[in-house]
Amino acid sequence: MSSTLIVLNLKTYLEGTGEGAVKVAQACKEVADNSGIEIGVAPQFCDIYRVASQVDLPVYSQSLDPVGAGSFTGHAFVQSIKDAGAVGTLINHSECRLTLANIDASITTARDAGLKTVVCTNNVATSAAAAALGPDYVAVEPPELIGSGIPVSKADPGVVTGSVDAVKRINPAVQVLCGAGISKGEDLAAALELGSVGVLLASGIVKAADPKAALDDLVSKV
Ligand code: G3P
Repeated sequence: MSSTLIVLNLKTYLEGTGEGAVKVAQACKEVADNSGIEIGVAPQFCDIYRVASQVDLPVYSQSLDPVGAGSFTGHAFVQSIKDAGAVGTLINHSECRLTLANIDASITTARDAGLKTVVCTNNVATSAAAAALGPDYVAVEPPELIGSGIPVSKADPGVVTGSVDAVKRINPAVQVLCGAGISKGEDLAAALELGSVGVLLASGIVKAADPKAALDDLVSKV
């Protein structure tokens, strides 16, 4: 296995919901096995068990709530996420923004439960702030490029290199991913050139006519 990491966020795309989540995860598993690149998948909460119990690949929650066991209603409890088979979680996202205090509490909750943490950020300043909280990964994604098909690694290389530099300065143990508009092998190759260790992506794969072929292309230049 190389140290490159790809995390595929299924969001609430219909193509990545229910049995669709399993199918996309199976494509990820095949491509991960053939390429030696680690690929994780982040389905919706209700699909974590379905995916994790049928496909042998790392499953991430799309978020979690920093609540303990007990009198809490309507929350995503870390123990339930873990028992469903997740090995990690995304935390914060331009589509699900948290306060800094909640990001901090979510990282602590996930880490205490043994889950890997990927904090999404929207610019260099928030990447630096997230790094100070000590997650495993910071994933920088400029919101204006999310779902655009225009890859951050080409359209805004400065936000990637800036985040890599800031994160290294603040906490060298934290690794940087980048995302938004990534779909092709050249996008991933450019992301790695800029110093990130991988990508967080969604629509380019989940909504592709053939997700397996799209994933094959994604890993083709690494
Ligand atoms: O979390 C991944 C994401 O926000 C990027 O989305 O569709 O631009 O790959 P997309």
